[in-house]
This record gives sequence, structure tokens and C-alpha cells, in this order.
Amino acid sequence: MLLKDKVALVTGSGKGMGRSIAEKFAEEGCDLIINDLYLDPAQEVAEGIRSLGRDAIAIQADIGNSTEVRGMIETAADKFGRIDILVNCAGGVSGTEGRGNSDTVTEEEWDRVVNLNLKGPFLVTMGVLPYMKKNKYGKIIFISSMGAVNPCVSVIHYHAAKAGVVGLMTNLAFELAPKSIYVNAILPGPVETTFWDALIPQGPARDALFKAIAEKEVPLERIGKPEDIAGPALFLASGLSDYITGQVINVAGGQPLLSHAGTFNIEAYLKSLTEK
Ligand SMILES: NC(=O)c1ccc[n+]([C@@H]2O[C@H](COP(=O)([O-])OP(=O)(O)OC[C@H]3O[C@@H](n4cnc5c(N)ncnc54)[C@H](O)[C@@H]3O)[C@@H](O)[C@H]2O)c1
Repeated sequence: MLLKDKVALVTGSGKGMGRSIAEKFAEEGCDLIINDLYLDPAQEVAEGIRSLGRDAIAIQADIGNSTEVRGMIETAADKFGRIDILVNCAGGVSGTEGRGNSDTVTEEEWDRVVNLNLKGPFLVTMGVLPYMKKNKYGKIIFISSMGAVNPCVSVIHYHAAKAGVVGLMTNLAFELAPKSIYVNAILPGPVETTFWDALIPQGPARDALFKAIAEKEVPLERIGKPEDIAGPALFLASGLSDYITGQVINVAGGQPLLSHAGTFNIEAYLKSLTEK
């Protein structure tokens, strides 16, 4: 059991990577705070974890809202008394449809997307840190994106925010290392989750897009699954990584490795589909 009797908060864990990370942690003996914008999926995940014999609570909170974040952390601390591990996973491009490149992005869109993807992880981390500092121990994992350094679709606000997350991670790792609080980031490549609904609905066109990405962008020639992110997250959350802080792990099927990586343009590909 790599996380025996630890307590972890995983944001956005009602679905996708967050859910997979939470379930993986529970298998390793961890108790969980399941946060999401939506209560029903969070409750479902928490129930599944309790059925494994671990403790779990579901808390509905918007990570971009400081009042809701404060309430979430107070509830979690009342229940468990401490938080050993934080995975800042909630994020995404939901609602950006067609409003992410330099011709279409608006100030309002910038604020909305940066609020979710950069300010949200900042607020949650600042809320959790007093508990970690008190215990002189913590593991913080930020879920950024390969797109922050190697984009294949133009969502400039989202990628800027995800690059900002790497800066936030690096500075916190530097500051908190003497307190045995470890801070690292995972940069996922393309992973099959509802994240992609904002770009293209599920169906044959989406399958064809994934095939094209796998062939043109990913050295391992497949789209990732949420479990592909959960393993590295477990490594960073556990004692196996106790000499690692301030690092970025690309979990992206080998990206960026191909000489043509970064040249595949999803927007141009989608446009070519509608023009056919
Ligand atoms: N899927 C990919 O290809 C991919 C690639 C790179 C990075 N990422 C990043 O990985 C993380 C996880 O994404 P995913 O693919 O599992 O997506 P997902 O859409 O499957 O899951 C995201 C979860 O976060 C929740 N959420 C959204 N906004 C929230 C908020 N304001 N407060 C609390 N919860 C909120 C959603 O309800 C959902 O349950 C995100 O940060 C995303 O940006 C995804």
C-alpha cells in the first residue's frame, strides 16, 4: 500500500483523469476528498471508494470561486483533520468552442478560462497549504498540459494558463522544499475523456480525429486513457518520489519526440472535415 492512511484531495474527480487518480489512490490505502463542479458524479465516485473500504466524501465546489474553495477545505479538514496530498486536476476548455485563437478570443473568454485553469489551482493550493505546513509534509501535483509547450490546436488562453501552472509549480517547489512539501506537474498528452467534447462531439468524426492525432503526433501511436495519468500521479503522490520536486513529467505517449510533433493542426483538420 503506497498511500496507507494518507488523505488526498483531487479536484475535478467526478470524471476523467481525476476520477481515475482518486480510484488509484484509494486502491493504495488513501482516503479521498472527491471535488467536482457537479455533485452526482462526485458522490458516485466517493461511494465506489467507500465500497473499497476507504473513507471518501464528495464536495461540490467551483475551484475558481474562493468562497466555495474555502468552504470545501473547511469541510474536508473537519472530516479528516489533515490533507497530505493535493491533485489539482479540474480544468479544461469547456465552453471555448471556436473562441480560442487570436482572431476569436475575447477578454471575457480569457478571464473565464484563465480563472478556471490557473487561478483555480492557485486558490485550492493556497487553501490546502496551511494544513501541509502544519504537518511539515505534503505532495502537490498539478495537471498541466502538453499543449502548454507543444500545442496542436489554438486555445491561447488555456495553453497560457497551463504554462502558468508550470511556473506556479516551480516557484512553490522552490519555496516549500525545506518544509518537505513536494510540488510537481504532469503534462498529459491527448487523453480520451469528455475534455474533448468542447472540440468535437463523440462519434465517427471524433474517432477519425483521434486516429489522426495518434498517427501524426504520438510516438506510441495511441490516444491516452485516464489510467495512463493515474499511475504517474500515484508515483508523485507516494514515497517512491521522495527525491523529486519541482519537476515536470510528460505523460504523453512519447510527446514531444517526433520531429514533426507540434505541426499537426487540429483546427485545420476539423475545418477540412467540414469543407469536404
Ligand atoms: N483530456 C486531455 O486530452 C487533456 C490533455 C491535457 C490536459 N488535460 C487536463 O487534464 C485535466 C483533467 O481533464 P480530463 O481530461 O479528465 O477532463 P474531464 O472533462 O473528463 O474532467 C474534468 C472534471 O473537472 C470538473 N470541473 C470542471 N470545472 C470545474 C470547476 N470549476 N471546479 C471543479 N471541478 C470542475 C468537471 O466537472 C469534470 O468532472 C484538466 O485540467 C485538463 O485541462 C486534459
